[in-house]
Amino acid sequence: MTRKTLITGGAGFIGSHLAARLKAEGRRLILIDNLSTGRRSNVEDLLDANCALIEADVAEALTDRTLIDGVEEIYHLAAAVGVKLVVDDPAGMITNNIDQTLTIIETATDIDAALLIASSSEVYGKCPVLPLREDMELVYGPTTASRWGYGMTKAIDEHLAIDYHRRRGLRSVVVRLFNTIGPRQVGHYGMVVPRFVTAACADKPIMIYGDGRQTRAFCDVRDVTRAMVQLLAEPGCAGEVFNLGSTRQVTIEALADLVIQHSGSTGGKRYVPYETVYGADFEDPPHRLPDIGKLRQSIGFEPRYTLEQSLEELIRLERQTVVVEGKASP
Ligand SMILES: NC(=O)c1ccc[n+]([C@@H]2O[C@H](COP(=O)([O-])OP(=O)(O)OC[C@H]3O[C@@H](n4cnc5c(N)ncnc54)[C@H](O)[C@@H]3O)[C@@H](O)[C@H]2O)c1
Repeated sequence: MTRKTLITGGAGFIGSHLAARLKAEGRRLILIDNLSTGRRSNVEDLLDANCALIEADVAEALTDRTLIDGVEEIYHLAAAVGVKLVVDDPAGMITNNIDQTLTIIETATDIDAALLIASSSEVYGKCPVLPLREDMELVYGPTTASRWGYGMTKAIDEHLAIDYHRRRGLRSVVVRLFNTIGPRQVGHYGMVVPRFVTAACADKPIMIYGDGRQTRAFCDVRDVTRAMVQLLAEPGCAGEVFNLGSTRQVTIEALADLVIQHSGSTGGKRYVPYETVYGADFEDPPHRLPDIGKLRQSIGFEPRYTLEQSLEELIRLERQTVVVEGKASP
């Protein structure tokens, strides 16, 4: 009998790649997504008798218990995502992220399904020590600066997953995702790589927020989903928290240069103060770099795709989309 797997946020960026991977492995899939930032078109090609998309909030969809009959594994990716969305509607984001997670944790416990929770490097807040390790202290700014609320909701999600593991035997594993990149990620919510690629392919200036000396590490979504599947399949990982990302640190300015170099863009780059984009109380951690020692030890993880390979593919796809949608200048 083929295994039945539930993915919340299954029509989102990472969720759709995870769905494609699991479908290729022969799983039966239920995807739940309210399409707030996800899109039906992300998974349209996958939908058939063995892969259903339920367009609803997680909690609402789960009121139909027949839906989860026989589900053995759950990947919980549904969340309000993206710095812009988080700053624009903090209360909505907080309610969404915590309520849906508690619902899914209770459901997984009831039906004894293994559960992977997608947490975030935002949990570290502005922890100044690098690389960031899972057992470090978490450091947040004041509650008047709304962006920290996102990391806090993810930290609460982690507490819930760990508590249910310890006291109720839930087989939960938490992954703290660092910057993940790949096709179908959209730029409108503040994601840097799609913003840069779209601008460069249109020969428009790449807008760098701040001075560009801040650093991030970008991991290809194919590496990320492979690790997620391995972690959930490994019984020894239950009750644990793992960083998941690349260890190659690049400045945002160097990222812009790479995008320009690989796309041949003539648009150049411009610098925009953070306050202009996110308002006066905005703080951005200057650096984010994971220590992935625990992940290496548990599942032997090493990223297979370089940043250049990921960018080249994204640039190729962006050019195709522009041609198909007729956005290209005459
Ligand atoms: N992409 C990254 O770099 C990154 C980094 C850190 C953490 N994460 C985490 O990974 C997960 C997936 O993120 P993503 O980048 O694919 O973003 P995404 O916005 O593409 O995916 C989130 C999906 O959840 C759906 N959703 C939101 N609230 C919902 C609800 N109440 N009910 C049903 N569906 C709902 C959205 O429509 C969307 O499809 C999120 O939990 C996010 O916090 C992503």
